[in-house]
Amino acid sequence: MTTINNARRRFMIQSGLGLLALSGMPSFLQAMEAMKEMPRILARKANPNFKADVEFDLYCKPSKVSILTGAETQVLQYSAVLKKGPKETLVDIPSSYLGPIIRLQQGQKVRIVLHNGLSQVSVTHWHGLHVPAEMDGHPMYAIDSGGTLVYEFEVLNRAGMNIYHPHPHEATAKQVYQGLAGALFVHDEEEAKLELPTGEYEIPIVIQDRSFDEQNQLIYVRNKHDRMLGFYGDRILVNGQSDVRVDVASRAYRLRILNGSNARIYKLAWDDGTPITVIGVDGGLLEQPEVKSYVMLAPGERLDVWADFSGRSVGSQLVMRSLAFTGVLPSMAQGMGIMMHANDLPVGSDYPIFKVRVTQSVSDSPKLPAKLSSFPRYHTKDVANPEKPVPIAISESPMAMLLNGRAYADNDFQEFERIKLNTLQLIEIFHAHGGMGMGHKGGGMGMMGGMMSMAHPIHLHGQQFQIISRSVSSEKASDYETVRHGFIESGLKDTVLVMPGESVRIIKPFQDFKGVFMYHCHNLEHEDMGMMREFLVE
Ligand code: C2O
Ligand code: CU
Repeated sequence: MTTINNARRRFMIQSGLGLLALSGMPSFLQAMEAMKEMPRILARKANPNFKADVEFDLYCKPSKVSILTGAETQVLQYSAVLKKGPKETLVDIPSSYLGPIIRLQQGQKVRIVLHNGLSQVSVTHWHGLHVPAEMDGHPMYAIDSGGTLVYEFEVLNRAGMNIYHPHPHEATAKQVYQGLAGALFVHDEEEAKLELPTGEYEIPIVIQDRSFDEQNQLIYVRNKHDRMLGFYGDRILVNGQSDVRVDVASRAYRLRILNGSNARIYKLAWDDGTPITVIGVDGGLLEQPEVKSYVMLAPGERLDVWADFSGRSVGSQLVMRSLAFTGVLPSMAQGMGIMMHANDLPVGSDYPIFKVRVTQSVSDSPKLPAKLSSFPRYHTKDVANPEKPVPIAISESPMAMLLNGRAYADNDFQEFERIKLNTLQLIEIFHAHGGMGMGHKGGGMGMMGGMMSMAHPIHLHGQQFQIISRSVSSEKASDYETVRHGFIESGLKDTVLVMPGESVRIIKPFQDFKGVFMYHCHNLEHEDMGMMREFLVE
């Protein structure tokens, strides 16, 4: 007991919670108060020596869209105007609050001028892109209402689906929830050679959940559980619309799926038992297709799916569902029925996401390539720290959501958060229970730890990583059974779902750019509560 108390005291002092604990504030506010103010760097101007191939203005501002029947819904929305480059660079999604689809080619030099038309500070992050630290949308670059921010970078990524979304200090979740997000595709030659379905045969599927009040307006966080567990809406939207049905021809399609929800985790499967053919994940195409009976998709993760409707008759329907699973929420919360309150769509229940209807019969369909791509594999023998993985210790308590024992604070690098440029690092993500900080693995799981533990999609900014191994504690093994076949380890990732009791080893490169790169939980409420830290690459 003594050790726990000491550790707890140390934790309280470190995180500044000691004093606040006396003040009677709700604990979720205490956790947020404990974070330091974010210093800001003055907005930069365009660099005249940067010769952009593609240039556009990106606006974020309040808007209204029709989502449900009846009144329009007030949202925040991205829009863009192309100033230079191919006109396919920007494609609006009609009557959606989602931002335009951005399509970039590997090797392009891109200049984007962000205009903040919100009444609050904001900054945009290119989730998945490997760009210089100053161009990554770190909250220290946030701009005030009316301000502008210039981004200039070369597209180094391989082909893949990425996301752009706001990343301001403590306000990411709310701005995303209100509508600010969009898909950003990178294309390259390796992908082009495959002649995968394009144009109308390549369909973006951005899955989000939202709650609406009687006036069709968005409802957001109502109480501390909505923050602690993340916010779950009771209505599934696809590309910003409700009850979506996609009309297709009887041929192969490429579905580019993104979980753009704040917190909700999906277990995707076709309702008739057709397996899901996965051709890519966060960091682009796999080496070869993987066929899965279901796929888990956590916030921030992407999935590239080959969906072949050939041979299906006109009028036939197929539904993509989220199947039942257990264990992603704290058992305590589930036991107390917290998740059930005012929510008709419990996490882990079985519900439809969108419908596909075959409306046209065609005889011609592309064939699925047996070999998709090749990319470098990382090996433990090549990492800079084979014996000493960089820890990412997850700890959750009613007091605070932490990584490596600390809430987010700028310029607060612990020794292992300083990374040498151009190294490969072995990283271990695991649960450290009781807020004791890094270095102590959950192992036996204290009573509190076990009950509070939940799943966290951990996202690392910068280059994509490779998953090396996963292991789960025996206490959590039966819940884990309900999700374990839904993970894809053969591709490059930037977000990985870490289940309760699970520990995941990854290898991540830190090449090309020095500076500050964040890592955090992509349960956006958790991120805003401070479950975020950063690496200093030097
Ligand atoms: Cu998609 Cu740091 O975020
Ligand atoms: Cu989390």
